Amino acid sequence: MFDRKHNCVVVVGAQWGDEGKGKLVDVLAEKTDLVVRYQGGANAGHTVVVGDRHFVLHQIPSGILHQEVRCIVGNGVVLDPETFFAELDQLGAQGIDISGRLLVSERAHLVLPYHQLLDQVSERTQQIGTTGRGIGPAYEDKIGRRGIRVADLCRADRARGLLTQGVARANALLEMLGAAERANLEEHLALGERLGARLAPITTDTGLVVHTALREGKRVLLEGAQGAMLDVDHGTYPFVTSSTTTASGAAVGAGIGPTEIDGVLGVVKAYTTRVGNGPLPTLAGGALEERLRQLGGEFGTTTGRPRRCGWFDAPVVRYSVRVNGLTGLAVTKLDVLDTFETIPVATGYRIEGGGTSEMPGDVELLERAVPIYEELKGWQRDITGARTLADLPPEARAYLDRLQDLAGAPIRYVSVGTRRDQIIET
Ligand code: IMP
Repeated sequence: MFDRKHNCVVVVGAQWGDEGKGKLVDVLAEKTDLVVRYQGGANAGHTVVVGDRHFVLHQIPSGILHQEVRCIVGNGVVLDPETFFAELDQLGAQGIDISGRLLVSERAHLVLPYHQLLDQVSERTQQIGTTGRGIGPAYEDKIGRRGIRVADLCRADRARGLLTQGVARANALLEMLGAAERANLEEHLALGERLGARLAPITTDTGLVVHTALREGKRVLLEGAQGAMLDVDHGTYPFVTSSTTTASGAAVGAGIGPTEIDGVLGVVKAYTTRVGNGPLPTLAGGALEERLRQLGGEFGTTTGRPRRCGWFDAPVVRYSVRVNGLTGLAVTKLDVLDTFETIPVATGYRIEGGGTSEMPGDVELLERAVPIYEELKGWQRDITGARTLADLPPEARAYLDRLQDLAGAPIRYVSVGTRRDQIIET
């Protein structure tokens, strides 16, 4: 994705999240100077396998595993300071030296314990199937202009006042919602004092850092979290997360202008999964779904919940190509399909008697959509050793060709396993 004309590339999920963005970012980071997370928060879970070591990153960009790469948590992220530092310390314990390589935007908003409490209590009636990490309530406070930002936490006096107001408001809301739980002011004040002091030395105007790096001809990778179908505008609303997960959010959340971005890589699984509530038209169901789940290890990285599994949904990916402006695709987990005799691929839907290849905006229509499947021949061979397209069986190549045609964007990478070397550049 990077060359003389492409210095700033966005990597996004093009389905419902969990497509394997962490692995792609880890591999691309080798050619990158700066990796920036630009939205979401601790709801994300990026798994990266290096040798026999597993790293699970929730808030720190996946580029951190490369010693020469600098990383940024951008202004569009909602930062949970407690789990952020726990993650940082865990990486240190695993031998990753972070000193001087990680910066946090002074403009990023905070996720506090009262946001998590509100998220969990709201779930009792709303049933979005959130991760319970406080993401929705934190973004609500941001848009409602009552959020607390990283810069605020770094100033002890201001932080005390804002935390006191935030806890009081959260408790009023909890009472209104009929919940018995209450946020504890002392706990919040102690957290503010402890973590504000830790955040201050790594906090800056990160948009300026990204802008300067690009002016100097450095390579910048903007790392998305979740996936297009969870985007607050373009996803299966209301069963979405509370941020702009599509590439358009990358400029806003990294603090640069949209004209700085040179390319957008969309990561897709060779099939489809979803965790949390909301429609999943190509759900496999029954034994086939269980087989996909077991073979793909499809359990949530953040919550451990089993993911619903189904077949590749071309209307979803084609829509994702459109709303993200994808210039390339990375197809992950192709090896999970190794044992299937035939593999269904949805080319369109039948909705209320009519056929369509487009994604309906109305989630109730999508609930009723019946996929129109095309059966592709399986390859029934182990492909985990493939390192070039030529190493793949003809049926696997035909499968990829068909996905590419249906999606309308070129496949640039194919991954056939969790290790760094199990990736094919096309
Ligand atoms: P929230 O982001 O915790 O508010 O959850 C909203 C919806 O997004 C739920 O369906 C979650 O399961 C889903 N979600 C949030 N983060 C991720 C992710 O990283 N991968 C997959 N689904 C996610």
